[in-house]
Amino acid sequence: MSLLFTLLVLTCAFVVDQVSTEEDKAVSYSGYQVWRITALSKEEHQAVLKMIEHFGLELWRWQESQTINTPIDVLVPPQSQIKVKQQLDEANISFVVKVADLQEDINDENPNLNASSYNTKAAHRMDWMSYHRLDDIYGYLNYLADTYPNIVQLINIGASYENRTLYVVRISNSSKPDTQPAVWIDGGFHAREWITHALATYIIQQLVEEPANAKLLFNIDWYIMPVVNPDGYEYSHVINRLWRRSRSNTGSRRCQGVDLNRNFDFKWGGPGSSNNPCADTFKGSKAFSEPEAVAYSKFIKSKSNQIKLYLSLHSYGQLILLPWGYEREYPSDYNETLALANLAASKFRAFSYRVGTTVDLLYRASGNSADWAKSIGIKYVYTVELPIRGFVLPASFILPVSKDFFPALDVLASKISTIPH
Ligand SMILES: *[C@@H]1O[C@H](CO)[C@@H](O)[C@H](O)[C@H]1NC(C)=O
Ligand SMILES: *[C@@H]1O[C@H](CO)[C@@H](O)[C@H](O)[C@H]1NC(C)=O
Ligand SMILES: *[C@@H]1O[C@H](CO)[C@@H](O)[C@H](O)[C@H]1NC(C)=O
Ligand SMILES: *[C@@H]1O[C@H](CO)[C@@H](O)[C@H](O)[C@H]1NC(C)=O
Ligand SMILES: *[C@@H]1O[C@H](CO)[C@@H](O)[C@H](O)[C@H]1NC(C)=O
Ligand SMILES: [Zn+2]
Repeated sequence: MSLLFTLLVLTCAFVVDQVSTEEDKAVSYSGYQVWRITALSKEEHQAVLKMIEHFGLELWRWQESQTINTPIDVLVPPQSQIKVKQQLDEANISFVVKVADLQEDINDENPNLNASSYNTKAAHRMDWMSYHRLDDIYGYLNYLADTYPNIVQLINIGASYENRTLYVVRISNSSKPDTQPAVWIDGGFHAREWITHALATYIIQQLVEEPANAKLLFNIDWYIMPVVNPDGYEYSHVINRLWRRSRSNTGSRRCQGVDLNRNFDFKWGGPGSSNNPCADTFKGSKAFSEPEAVAYSKFIKSKSNQIKLYLSLHSYGQLILLPWGYEREYPSDYNETLALANLAASKFRAFSYRVGTTVDLLYRASGNSADWAKSIGIKYVYTVELPIRGFVLPASFILPVSKDFFPALDVLASKISTIPH
């Protein structure tokens, strides 16, 4: 593990400490800004990361090695803004203020929630005009299972640390269960990435309730888990909009929760994961220490012969990421899986996505779920980083992002529907 990397991990730890408390009081990001810094050389990139470490700032979007394509997004608290600007100016490194007041963005993010969803006469409260709490999402899943029992099955795969149900939705029109190729899609590994819960539920809605998409059920079983981390999701709605991890007891009184996407039992604990229970990339006390990761992995393993395509939704970055993520290595069938990803990427219209391995386009991330899925033999494994404005994305983006996603999903599904099972 490089020194730089160690420093970064410690950095994240410091920040989590600073902005979250275990009191039941909502965290305010009033005056916090998001800056986009553009480093023009390896040296500048290193200098920026060092400075971020020095000031204990939280990285929102970054890359381990410098390329011209990847600016660094960083959250800058009010008390650091003058000094950070001074250092960047002295080093002649340019930046723009992307978010002028994060709390204002948070306040404006979900404006239609009440208007759209608290119609007590409706059979469910779900829509894609706003981000919905867990009750609305689960209410919708139950509604679908009741209303379309021939194609929708709601599978309870276990419980979260705080005892919320973990649901997988099975969508299939096959008279013989488990005999055709299957697609896995999940959202909400990371609590604050609200666009992923919204897109996963949108895909469910489109597959079940939109007759034009019936062809996507013709040869395929779909397994979709829209909320992998329900405890974190609720916490991100009620207490801390930027919460990422689960909510389990880590032994640290101040810092709860594990990065579920570093908790998987493949290369667990390697570079890109942290020992520090306060770090955003905390890997947990052991591989599969978290009930959410256990339930998820058991379910996928039970279907691993059937699942040919695995999509894990994250935000943000507009990237389609391929294994491996633990180190700069490439699976033996990389070219084949890359070709399909490139074809899918060519279908986006409103937003363009880049394609490559997690390490090439971002950083190392040992113990991530996609590497684990690849390691158990699933062929087409992709992590998708959705668009691009940050974790706090106005709800008016849900439909444009989701509609733009569907042609790419169609390409991926068509490919796997032809794989003999
Ligand atoms: C600062 O950077 C700009 C290009 O971004 C360059 O034109 C200029 O010469 C630099 N100034 C110094 C003092 O390095
Ligand atoms: C939505 O409704 C709830 C409950 O009625 C209320 O507490 C809340 O302030 C409302 N939020 C908005 C944004 O109107
Ligand atoms: C967890 O929830 C289930 C029902 O969802 C309940 O039967 C059980 O008692 C709960 N367990 C705990 C420890 O709260
Ligand atoms: C399910 O399959 C039946 C029989 O093949 C067909 O009539 C029906 O249209 C299909 N429904 C959907 C939603 O695909
Ligand atoms: C993948 O493609 C690259 C360039 O197109 C080629 O150099 C490499 O040998 C290929 N790898 C495999 C495993 O086929
Ligand atoms: Zn994520």
